[in-house]
Amino acid sequence: MPIFTRISRCAWLISSIFIISNTPGAWADKFEQLAMTPPMGWNSWNHFGCNVDEKLIKATADAMAKNGMKAAGYEYVNIDDCWHGERDANGNIQVDAERFPSGMKALADYVHKRGLKLGIYSDAGWTTCAGKPGSRGYEFQDAKTYASWGIDYLKYDWCATDGLKAEGAYQTMSKAIVEAGRPMILSICEWGDNDPWKWAEPLGQLWRTTGDIYACFDCEYDHGTWSSWGVIQILDMQDELRKYAGPGHWNDPDMMEVGNGMTFEEDRAHFSMWAMLAAPLIAGNDLRNMSKETLSILSNDDVIAVDQDALGIQGFKYSEKDGVETWFKPLENGEWAVAMLNRNNHDVKFKFAWRHEKVTDDLTKRSIDFNTEIFNWQDLWDNNNTGTTKEFVKTTIKRHDVLMLKLTPAGEWKR
Ligand code: GLA
Repeated sequence: MPIFTRISRCAWLISSIFIISNTPGAWADKFEQLAMTPPMGWNSWNHFGCNVDEKLIKATADAMAKNGMKAAGYEYVNIDDCWHGERDANGNIQVDAERFPSGMKALADYVHKRGLKLGIYSDAGWTTCAGKPGSRGYEFQDAKTYASWGIDYLKYDWCATDGLKAEGAYQTMSKAIVEAGRPMILSICEWGDNDPWKWAEPLGQLWRTTGDIYACFDCEYDHGTWSSWGVIQILDMQDELRKYAGPGHWNDPDMMEVGNGMTFEEDRAHFSMWAMLAAPLIAGNDLRNMSKETLSILSNDDVIAVDQDALGIQGFKYSEKDGVETWFKPLENGEWAVAMLNRNNHDVKFKFAWRHEKVTDDLTKRSIDFNTEIFNWQDLWDNNNTGTTKEFVKTTIKRHDVLMLKLTPAGEWKR
C-alpha cells in the first residue's frame, strides 16, 4: 500500500473512532436544517393551561397570520398539554373528540393553509404532566401518528418518568421522528435537570434549561417540591450555557410571558433579554385579544432581528453596575446588540462611557476597543434615539426596563 494511502487510512480510522466515541449513543441523525435560527411561534400553556380546543387553535392561527406576527417571523402554532383522548384498541393515540371534533389532521390542514405550522405536545413518561397518556412504550407509533396528522413540532415533556434515563428517552423519540419521516422539530423539555445541553444537540433542536416560567419579573413561586420562576431568575440560570447553543440547537429558557400580566417595561425587558439569549421566541399570551402595546413588543422587527441573527451566537453578561446589567451579543457584519437591563425596583440614572470599556467575547474571540473603533448606535425601542460610541450614553432606565441598542461599525478613530 503506498505510504500516503496508509497514512490517510490510518487518519480515517482514528477520526472514526474519535467521532463514534464522542457521539452520545452514536445517534446523530436528527433532521438537519431545522431551526437554523431560534424557532418562533406560540404555545397554549402559559395562558390557557389545559383549556385547549380546535376553536382556540384556529383563532390563534388566524390572528397570527393577520396581525403582523407571521410577517415578523412567527411560524409555529403549538398545542401544549391536554389535547389527548385515550388510546384506541390498537394503541393509537386519539384526540379528545369533544375538544377537537374535526381531528388533528383537519386542524393541521387549517394551520398550513395560513402558511403556518402546527406543533403538539407529549411526554416521555407514562403520563403527561396533566395526567394524559404519555408516549412511553409508544414512541414510534406516536411519531408515526403525528407525522400522518401533518405535525411539524413536538414538545416532549418529562413527567412520570421514574427510572428512565433522559438521554436515552429523548434519543428514542428522536429516532422515532426520523423513522416517521416527516421533518419535525423536537423540543426537549426536561427542565434542565439532566444537563441536556451536554447531550441533546444530536437529538433535538431546543432544550429547556430551567423549570417553568410564570408571569412575574423577579419572583419565585414555591409549589413545595418544585418552583416556577420569574424572568430574572430564569435569566440568571443561563450563565455558562451559551457555548452549547447555535444554529439547529438552542438553549430554551422557556416560552414567553409577554402580555400575561407584567408591566409594559417588564414585558419588553423580557422580550429583549430573550432576544439577547438567542432564545426561541414562543409567545404565550392570548393572540386573539391583546393590547396594541403587547403586539408592538412581540412584533418589534429590530429586536427580532437580534434574536434571529444568522450567526446564532447567544449573548453574554458583560458588566453589572448599580443593579444595571450590560449584555453584548455579537451579530453578523461586525455589528453587536447591547442591552442595559435595570433589575432594580426603582428607576436608575445610567451612564455608559464606551471608551472606558473593552469588550471581549471569550467564546467567539471577537472584541471591541472603543478607543480605536467607532460605532453608531440605534435604540431598538425608540427609532428616534441614536448616537455614536464617541459620546457617553446618559439616560434614565425605568425600573425593570431595558435600553437596547444595535451597534454598527462606523470607522476608526483618526489620530
Ligand atoms: C410542564 C412543562 C410546561 C407545560 C406543562 C404541561 O410543566 O414544563 O411547559 O408543558 O408541563 O402540563
